[in-house]
Amino acid sequence: MSRPRILVARAVFPEVLDKLSQHFEVQSNQPDEIWSKPALIAALKDKVGAFTTGSERIDAEVLAACPHLKICANMAVGFNNFDVDAMTARGVLATNTPDVLTETTADFGFALLMATARRVTESEHYLRAGLWTKWSYDMFAGAEVHGSTLGILGMGRIGQGIARRGAHGFGMKVIYHNRSRLDAASEAACKATYVSKEQLLREADHLVLVLPYSASSHHAIGAAEIAQMKPSATLVNIARGGIVDDAALAQALQDRRIAAAGLDVFEGEPAVHPELLKVPNVVLTPHIASATVKTRLAMADLAADNLIGYLVKGKPLTPLNPQVLAAA
Ligand code: 8YV
Repeated sequence: MSRPRILVARAVFPEVLDKLSQHFEVQSNQPDEIWSKPALIAALKDKVGAFTTGSERIDAEVLAACPHLKICANMAVGFNNFDVDAMTARGVLATNTPDVLTETTADFGFALLMATARRVTESEHYLRAGLWTKWSYDMFAGAEVHGSTLGILGMGRIGQGIARRGAHGFGMKVIYHNRSRLDAASEAACKATYVSKEQLLREADHLVLVLPYSASSHHAIGAAEIAQMKPSATLVNIARGGIVDDAALAQALQDRRIAAAGLDVFEGEPAVHPELLKVPNVVLTPHIASATVKTRLAMADLAADNLIGYLVKGKPLTPLNPQVLAAA
């Protein structure tokens, strides 16, 4: 009997490809070419399953052109590259990789916060440029982290991980805003207080964005929101490009309306707004918040296990639209 055909749309760990090859006829993209939409469709149109990353957009046009498709397994917790409603309408299962990256991503959120507040990369560039000729009392004086107020916008698993680090590790006062308030036990575990978005913007010394991207979170932080923040504040985005209006942020950083920003995600990435590249008070990293060897392997493994779970055993591990299962 012929094995189900799947597409692995980006380069992935060889051991994960090997595991998939035990169950499927696999077309892979180990050269890691970035495919146009027609190229993605050409590769996917005879497949029943797809292993995707955040870079592949699965929308109504792709789905219409790929009638055999039964599942897209994203190697990411975020899934704004999927049109889940269109997938559900066509009976295509969507899966993501929650939990396995929570602590690693929260670690990085804190690393970016620290690097930004304490001006780590800015001072390193100065040193590497040979500009360090003497010590001075105010050289790269940044913002205090311990004991300050940590604001978190989006209080899911990763947001709570950052809150725990801030409250328990750095003695920070933690305030948060989220679509829905956490239950009392979860708030107590990360010593976090629910506030309005306005209060969050007004009171945070360090504001970390960890909310999912959707039409309603597009430009959740723009010029008007930045204007409400303290001039001494730090803004950190480890969520998704498009949540921050990058042009407005670059202008605010140039005008010193806030002190600094740390960005791991960008509107239109991998392109970065040219004005952001010009300002010194921003730390820029290329979407690496989940990038440890162990976590990336766990994410790839979970995406693979979702494909095997659904197409071979009939039971995916982390479905996003389980109504597809009920209907099948
Ligand atoms: C991924 C991420 O590395 O999981 C997510 O949502 O943003 C990252 O961990 C990236 O999306 C590649 O798939």
